Amino acid sequence: MRMCDLILKKKRGEELDTKEIRFMIRGYTDGSIPDYQMSAMAMAICFNGMSRRETADLTLAMRDSGEVLDLSGIRGIKVDKHSTGGVGDKTSLALAPLVASLGVPVAKMSGRGLGHTGGTIDKLACFPGFTTSLSAETFVRNVNTVGIAIAGQTASLAPADKKLYALRDVTGTVDQMSLIASSIMSKKLASGSDAIVLDVKTGNGAFMKRYEDAVALAEEMVSIGTLAGKKTAAVITGMDQPLGFAVGNSLEVIEAIDTLCGRGPEDFKEVVFALGAKMLVFAGRAADEAEAVRLMEGAIADGSALKKLAEFVEAQGGDAAPVYDTSLLPIADKTFIVRAPKDGYVNRILAEEVGTACMQLGGGRENKDSEIDLSVGILLKKKNGDAVTAGEPLAVLYGRDEGKLRAAADRVQAAYEIGRERRKPDPVIYRSIDG
Ligand code: URA
Repeated sequence: MRMCDLILKKKRGEELDTKEIRFMIRGYTDGSIPDYQMSAMAMAICFNGMSRRETADLTLAMRDSGEVLDLSGIRGIKVDKHSTGGVGDKTSLALAPLVASLGVPVAKMSGRGLGHTGGTIDKLACFPGFTTSLSAETFVRNVNTVGIAIAGQTASLAPADKKLYALRDVTGTVDQMSLIASSIMSKKLASGSDAIVLDVKTGNGAFMKRYEDAVALAEEMVSIGTLAGKKTAAVITGMDQPLGFAVGNSLEVIEAIDTLCGRGPEDFKEVVFALGAKMLVFAGRAADEAEAVRLMEGAIADGSALKKLAEFVEAQGGDAAPVYDTSLLPIADKTFIVRAPKDGYVNRILAEEVGTACMQLGGGRENKDSEIDLSVGILLKKKNGDAVTAGEPLAVLYGRDEGKLRAAADRVQAAYEIGRERRKPDPVIYRSIDG
């Protein structure tokens, strides 16, 4: 079998069979298939798609490209959560300690930023000393003692996805349904949890821009998870504007901490609660979602969710002082205010543009090995539906370099659509899909 023939086959729009998909993933993992051939294949998949059967085969081949974790040493029902990626999406930072504080074990594998979206691993690096490189023993021990562990994708867990994810990030091949579904589900199936809750984003800042595509992606992933014997559910959430107000690593960590202190943005809290409710019900901690919401309100009000975040940061070698004093987190010292050009209402904020502006400031990766700057970012002052007057701040940008700040500011300015009439903002939670 030759990879070149498989690329040609996919270029012609034909289906790859199970053996061919296994050959391709095995070869890419062991290095006998180089990045340039895999990039061509990823692009051919972007143009011609994959059937459900091919997607399931790709998922299982990537799951089996490495170790499949055995979490049976962890007591309780382990529920994992994963997002398809958004702008300002700091959900895991608040959600994981919140549900863990209610006794649900969180054993989570997280990724780094992809394209214009941020990743949990990058955000956690804001705590000095924090490590996501955990041995399997430490991972299990931390979940049993602290109730939560978040690890980066180790070289041994779905290594094919790890390589392909980094490749897609820099070859314009991220936003393809089968590639996203197989990437997420291969990791989730390899990481050994009992149940999976998926946050599938839709809107201009999501990889799946159209609602119908997000539903199709959610259905595909729920079906793969269910077939693999895991309780799986998805919530379709809006990404028609950034989630919350903060975009950029440190700024997002501060917003997640604020949320655990009971003063977070409403839209962000809604997403955290929608996903958390499913996790608590799957874990048998709440009888229904209404009870789950009451429990989560309680854990925020009595400070136990915030305390859990501090315990988790410490258990993974981090300095937890910023959890109680967010001024310790790195924030770039130069600012640029983007102002409203006219009176009216904010009718749209192109989230993808805001994410790209953050990347331009240095908050995301331009290539596979770029270092990211945790201190830069964008704080939105106005969101969809808000009234504005000319000259009022729409957003504040934090950066280190005047030139980059100006370029990013132009992008953020253009991302705001201001109209004379107020358009009703799109929903934050669209619907759920249960397996
Ligand atoms: N998250 C992933 O893990 N993979 C994708 O392809 C997109 C989002």
